[in-house]
Amino acid sequence: MDQPPDTNAAIWKSAEVIQNWAAEADDRERKRGEPRRLMAELLPFDQSEKFTFLDLGAGTGAASRGILAQYPNSTAILADFSPQMMGAGEREMQPFAGRFRYVEFDMAVGGWPDDIPTSVGAIITSLSVHHLTDTRKQSLFGEIYGRLAAGGWYLNYDPVTAPDRIVEATWQRVNEREDPTAAHQRQHRSHSEQERWDNHVRYMIPLAQQLDYLRAAGFEGIDVYWKRLENVIYGGRRPN
Ligand SMILES: C[S@@+](CC[C@H](N)C(=O)[O-])C[C@H]1O[C@@H](n2cnc3c(N)ncnc32)[C@H](O)[C@@H]1O
Repeated sequence: MDQPPDTNAAIWKSAEVIQNWAAEADDRERKRGEPRRLMAELLPFDQSEKFTFLDLGAGTGAASRGILAQYPNSTAILADFSPQMMGAGEREMQPFAGRFRYVEFDMAVGGWPDDIPTSVGAIITSLSVHHLTDTRKQSLFGEIYGRLAAGGWYLNYDPVTAPDRIVEATWQRVNEREDPTAAHQRQHRSHSEQERWDNHVRYMIPLAQQLDYLRAAGFEGIDVYWKRLENVIYGGRRPN
C-alpha cells in the first residue's frame, strides 16, 4: 500500500503554520515549565561551567533558553531545517544575544554541516525526533553519540505512542479532563489542523523502541528521567 506523503518539511516551512505556532507558544510553554527546567538540571555541569551544547530541531529555541538561563557561561548551537522557525527564533533568542547561533541542518537527510562542531559537551532534542522515520531516529542517535565529548549527555524531550489501547485511552481521558476543550478540538479539526496532527503522529513510536536505539548506539546511564502521560524525557551519556 502507498504511504501517504510526508508533509513535514512543507508544514514547518510554511509561514502560516509558523505564525500559528508563534501565537500559541506562550500558552504551550506555560504548561511545559517542569520538563524545560528538568532538561537543564539533568545536565551534569557546574552552574558557572563553560560548555557548548547543540539543540537539534531547535525551532524558536524554547529548550535552549532553559539551559542558557540555568548556565550563564554556556553557549548554544541551534540547528533546524526551517528558515521560518529560525527567523522567529532569532527574535525570541535576543535575551541571549552573543551566546547562540543558528545553523541550517535537515536531520532527516543527515550530512552534518561544517558549522556544527565535531565534539560538544551535550546534545538535546526537543519535540523534533518524532518527525523522523525509525531508520533515521536510529542512525541519528549514532551520529549524536559520535558528536559528544567523552562523558557528554544526550537528552530527548518528545511525545511517544502508547504501548496498548488501554494506556492510550487513559492518556486521552486525562488530557481531556485537564483541558475540557481538547475533545471538541480533536473532533472538529480544520483541514490544516488535521494536516498538522497527521504530521505530528506520522512517525511517533513507543518509548521502549527508542531506548533500544540508545542502547544500540552505545549510550550508558540510559533512563526515562521524566514522564507525564505521552511526554517523556529520556537520555544517556557517552562513556568517559
Ligand atoms: C514542535 S517544534 C519544536 C521546537 C523546539 N525544539 C521546542 O522544543 O519548542 C519541531 C521543530 O523541529 C523542526 N524539524 C522538524 N523536522 C526537522 C528536520 N528534518 N530537520 C531539522 N529540523 C526539523 C521544525 O522545523 C521545528 O522547528
